[in-house]
Amino acid sequence: MLRQALLSVSRSDKVKNLVETAPVTRTLVHRFVAGERAFDAVRAAEHLGTQGLYASIDHLGEDTRDPGQARATRDAYVELLRRLDDAGLAGRAEVSVKLSAIGRHLPDGADVALDHARAICEAAKTAGTTVTLDMEDHTTTDATLAVLHLLRADYPWVGAVLQAYLRRTEADCRDLAAPGSRVRLCKGAYDEPASVAFTDRADVDRNYVRCLKILMAGPGYPMAATHDPRLIELTGMLAARNRREPGTYEYQMLYGVRPAEQTRLAAQGERVRVYVPYGDQWYGYLMRRLAERPANMTFFLRSLATK
Ligand code: FDA
Repeated sequence: MLRQALLSVSRSDKVKNLVETAPVTRTLVHRFVAGERAFDAVRAAEHLGTQGLYASIDHLGEDTRDPGQARATRDAYVELLRRLDDAGLAGRAEVSVKLSAIGRHLPDGADVALDHARAICEAAKTAGTTVTLDMEDHTTTDATLAVLHLLRADYPWVGAVLQAYLRRTEADCRDLAAPGSRVRLCKGAYDEPASVAFTDRADVDRNYVRCLKILMAGPGYPMAATHDPRLIELTGMLAARNRREPGTYEYQMLYGVRPAEQTRLAAQGERVRVYVPYGDQWYGYLMRRLAERPANMTFFLRSLATK
């Protein structure tokens, strides 16, 4: 119930204004977001690097209806990639991109988003790093996978995200488990109808297991994006079963979520990549993080009460 309510207000402008103007919100934002500027994201990637961790940096923003905003987001990524290169971090940090942030919902949005994504991939190629296309709600899955295929023709290292809560994902895993294919498997963060998604958490977990087995047994590069202790353990077991060395797959977690587990795995020689969001459009991202864990909501309400 709470999860659904939070996910539905994640798209409400009224609630967005209320939450954004509450000064105490900042406390929680800083737990999950590296800062507002590219400088903050680069500094976070640098700090993660000192702990043996890798990064995937997300310039926050989604669902833009403004062509100027879509261009600004593209330019922000290009600038970020240049900074990562200058800082010598391109080997440790890549970027994650939402197609709706670079124009997918504009008139001619498919072409606009593809052009902007190409510009970002070109900048990543120059820097010597990679790009992963974030996955948004289920109405966009086919379009995102279509863009992925077009981009991969020129940039074969572009990564995809598949969401275990979607009923279609097991088949998508089989399609994408190809040599060189980078696939991030997550549970899924949007409010989806039962017609397309498993709504029971146990069913989502079971599908995650089926999907992870396919990816880990295949010839691609699986990226297990989860904080779930049982699924993290399973990833290690599947790596051993499939004789995969660390570095032929990776663990991924969110900035601010289970940091001790991130460094524990890295200390064991595993590759762990942290998803680092930055920018001032943090509202939708924050609401999805609150929806994932009631304890975060309690933390938020407690900080409201103590201010
Ligand atoms: P689950 O939510 O069951 O949590 C398992 C445990 O992890 C919890 O019991 C708790 O201990 C801890 N935990 C989880 N979330 C927490 C939080 N917010 N705060 C504190 N503790 C928490 N989704 C999507 O739809 N499209 C995408 O492109 C991406 N991309 C992405 C990248 C990366 C690197 C990650 C890690 C995740 C995503 N996601 C995503 C989000 C993903 O779909 C999912 O919503 C979250 O990862 C939470 O799911 P878990 O697998 O962690 O399990």
